[in-house]
Amino acid sequence: MESKREVFVVRGTAGKRTLQGSIPVYGAKNAVLKAFAASVLFEDGMTLQNVPAIEDVHRITELLEKSGAQVSFDKKRTYTVLAGKKFDTNLDTTLAKRFRASVVLTGPILARYKKVSFPHPGGCVLGGRPIDVFLSAYEALGVKIVHKSDRYFLTAPKGLQGAIINFRVQSVTGTETIMMAATLAKGVTVLKNAAMEPEIVELANYLNQSGAKIEGAGTPTITITGVKSLRTNNVSYVTMPDRIEAGSFIILASLLGKDVTVTHCEPLHMESLLQHLSMMGVDLTIGKDFVRVRGNAKTKLTSIDVKTHEYPGFPTDIQAPMMIALTQAAGESTVFETIFEDRLRYVESLKIMGADVTTMNPLQVIVRGPRSLRGKELESPDLRAGLAYLIAAGVAEGESIIGMVYNIDRGYEKIEDRLSAIGFSIQRKIL
Ligand code: EPZ
Repeated sequence: MESKREVFVVRGTAGKRTLQGSIPVYGAKNAVLKAFAASVLFEDGMTLQNVPAIEDVHRITELLEKSGAQVSFDKKRTYTVLAGKKFDTNLDTTLAKRFRASVVLTGPILARYKKVSFPHPGGCVLGGRPIDVFLSAYEALGVKIVHKSDRYFLTAPKGLQGAIINFRVQSVTGTETIMMAATLAKGVTVLKNAAMEPEIVELANYLNQSGAKIEGAGTPTITITGVKSLRTNNVSYVTMPDRIEAGSFIILASLLGKDVTVTHCEPLHMESLLQHLSMMGVDLTIGKDFVRVRGNAKTKLTSIDVKTHEYPGFPTDIQAPMMIALTQAAGESTVFETIFEDRLRYVESLKIMGADVTTMNPLQVIVRGPRSLRGKELESPDLRAGLAYLIAAGVAEGESIIGMVYNIDRGYEKIEDRLSAIGFSIQRKIL
C-alpha cells in the first residue's frame, strides 16, 4: 500500500492569508458508500451519480465485484451496479477489513439473500468500534448468528421478521444497515434511538422512491414497513455534497483565505460548524449552495469550546480540522470528543509543530492560541486527522511532509489538485 512512500509536500505561509478563488465540494463518502451497499437490494440494478473518485469507493466496488455483482463505470462519476441471482454472500475478508462501511453491506445482503458472512470490519482506528448494535438488532429481526474463526455467519432462512429495536447507542452505520435490512422484512420494524445524520435521510428518500416504505428518517424513530422487492425503475441515485469535506475547506479558508468560496455544498447540513466559526469571528457569507469566507491581516479569531455530538451537533469528523483553527484563535479553547474514545491522539503531532495543547484525559484537551506552527514531517493517522495535518502544514512556517497519504485518499478526491487551484502550496511526491 505504501511501499513507495507517497507523501504530500506542503509549503506553509506562516499564517499569511493567500488563498483565493472557489473550490467545489464533491459527493459525500459517507453517503455514497451506503448507496453502493443499497444496490444489492435492487433486482433491476442501480445507477449512482456524482460518485467521488476516492479509495473507499474503489474498495466497496471491488468488494461488490468479488461477490459477483456487475459494476461498471459508465462516464465521469457515474457507476451502475447489478447484483443478480447469483451472489456470493461471504464478504471477502481482506477487502472488508479495510473500511468500516463494509459492514453496511450485510443488511442488504441478508435482506435479499437471507444469509451473509463477514469479518469484523476495519476502518479508521478511532477506538474499539464494536458492532454489538448491529448484531443485537439482527437477533431481534430473527437472524441466527454464529461467530467462529473471527467471522460472523448470519442466517435467516425464512427471511427477516419486523421487530421493535431500541438502539443502545445512536449509530450512523447501524441505523443505515438495519433500516435497509428491514425494507424487505416481513411486517413492521421500528428503530428507536436512531441516528439522524443527513446521509440517512438521503438514503431513505432514495429507497422510498424505489418502493420501500420508510417513515421518520432524520428523527430518532424510524418506521419501516417491509415490502416484497425493490426496483429502482431506472431512477438514479445522485450523491449529496460531502458536508465534512465542505466544512474542512471552510476551516482552511477561515485560517488562510483572502477570499474563498466553497461551492456545491449544502450549508443547511453544516449549521453547527458555521455557528461555531461565526462565533470565533470568521467572516462568512452563507448562500443556498455555497459559503464564502473572507479575511485579511486584521482578522482575529477568538477561542471557543467545542463538544462533538451526534447530528445536528458538532460532527466528530470535523473535530480535527477545527483543532487547527483553535491553535490560531486568541485565548483558551476546550475540545471534548464524545463519540469516539480514541480520536484525539493526533494532537501529539500538533504539539511537535508548536501547538499549545494540553491533554486533560483521552477525550478532552485545552488549546491555547494563537501559536505559530513549524513545518514538520508527519504521518496521516486517519483521513480526517490527515486533512487536519494538511491544514496545519499550510498555516505553519516552512515545509511539511505528510506521509500515509492513502488515509487521505480514502476520503478526498485529488486533494492536491483542488487545494492548489485556490493557491495552497501542495505537491504529491514519491520519496
Ligand atoms: C460513521 O461511523 C461514519 N462512518 C464515521 O465517519 C463517523 O465518524 C461516525 O459515523 C460518527 O458520525 C461511516 O459512515 C462509514 P457510529 P460509524 O456507529 O457508523 C459506538 C469518517 O472519518 N458503537 O455512529 O462506525 C461507536 O464505538 C468516519 O468518515 C457501538 O458501541 O459510527 C461510537 O462510539 C470515521 N456499537 C458510537 O457508537 C456499535 O455496534 C457512534 O459510532 C456501533 C457503534
